[in-house]
Amino acid sequence: MGNRFKSSLEGEPVPHEYRDVRRTEGVQSQEDVQSNIIQFDKCLEFLEKAGKTYTSPKFRIWPEDHLIIFKLLVYFYQDKPNAEKHGIDLHKGILLTGPVGCGKTSLMTILRFMLAPKEQYIIKSARDITLEFIQDGYPIINKYSKASFHQISGELTPKAYCFDDLGVESNIKYYGNETNVMAEILLSRYDMFIGQHMLTHATTNLSASEIENCYGNRVRSRMREMFNLITFENAKDKRC
Ligand SMILES: Nc1ncnc2c1ncn2[C@@H]1O[C@H](COP(=O)(O)OP(=O)(O)OP(=O)(O)O)[C@@H](O)[C@H]1O
Ligand SMILES: [Mg+2]
Repeated sequence: MGNRFKSSLEGEPVPHEYRDVRRTEGVQSQEDVQSNIIQFDKCLEFLEKAGKTYTSPKFRIWPEDHLIIFKLLVYFYQDKPNAEKHGIDLHKGILLTGPVGCGKTSLMTILRFMLAPKEQYIIKSARDITLEFIQDGYPIINKYSKASFHQISGELTPKAYCFDDLGVESNIKYYGNETNVMAEILLSRYDMFIGQHMLTHATTNLSASEIENCYGNRVRSRMREMFNLITFENAKDKRC
C-alpha cells in the first residue's frame, strides 16, 4: 500500500484500481459512505498523503468533509448506485461550492491524482484566464472552449477543465472592454458539452444568485445543466 501511494505521488500508476475492490472496509461505518465500488478508507488515506505532499504539510482529512469527499469519489469513480442515491449525474461536471478557505481548491487539486491520465482535468484559475485575455484578447476564449481538445491515440478528445474560483475575476477591469470572459467561455463550453460532451468542473464561493449577477441568467441556466452542485455547508476556514 505504502509503495502504491509513493509511486502514485511520483506520477506513476494512479490508484484508479481502488474503484475495483469489492467493499469499503474499516474506518467508515455510516450508511452514507458505503460503496461496492470505492474503498473509501484507502482513498482517504491516499488523499491525506497527496494533500500533505501537494497542498500543505498540515493537510488532513476532516471527518465533517467525509460525505463531500465521498460524493466526489462517487462521481469520479462512476459509482452508479451511489450516484443515483446522492442525486449525482455522471454525465455532468462538478461545481464545488463553499465558504472561503473550506478546501475546495485543495480537494480538486488532489483528486486529480486519483484519476487515470486520460480522465484528468486541468485546473486553471478564472483570474489567470481573465489576465490571459487582457494580454492576448479573443483567441483566449476559443483556447478554453472551442479549441479545447487534445490528441489521445490519434483522436481529438475534449479537454476537461476545472475553473478555479469562478467569480473572483469579475472585479478585474479591462479598459474599453465589456467582455465577460468566463461567461463567454462557459457559454461556448455549454455548446461543446451538448455537442461533444466537453466536461467542465469549477470551484466557487458564489451562491446561485451571485452567479447570476456575475454572469447573467443565460449562463446560470446553462450551468444548471452542465454541473452537479456539491456544497460544503457551514465548513470552517481551514486557513486559520
Ligand atoms: N483538509 C485540510 N487540512 C488542512 N488544511 C487544509 C485542508 N484543506 C485546505 N487546507 C488549507 O486551507 C487553506 C485554504 O484551502 P483552499 O485554498 O483549498 O480553500 P478554498 O475553499 O479553495 O478557498 P477560497 O474560497 O479562498 O478559494 C490552504 O492554506 C490549504 O492548504
Ligand atoms: Mg480556492
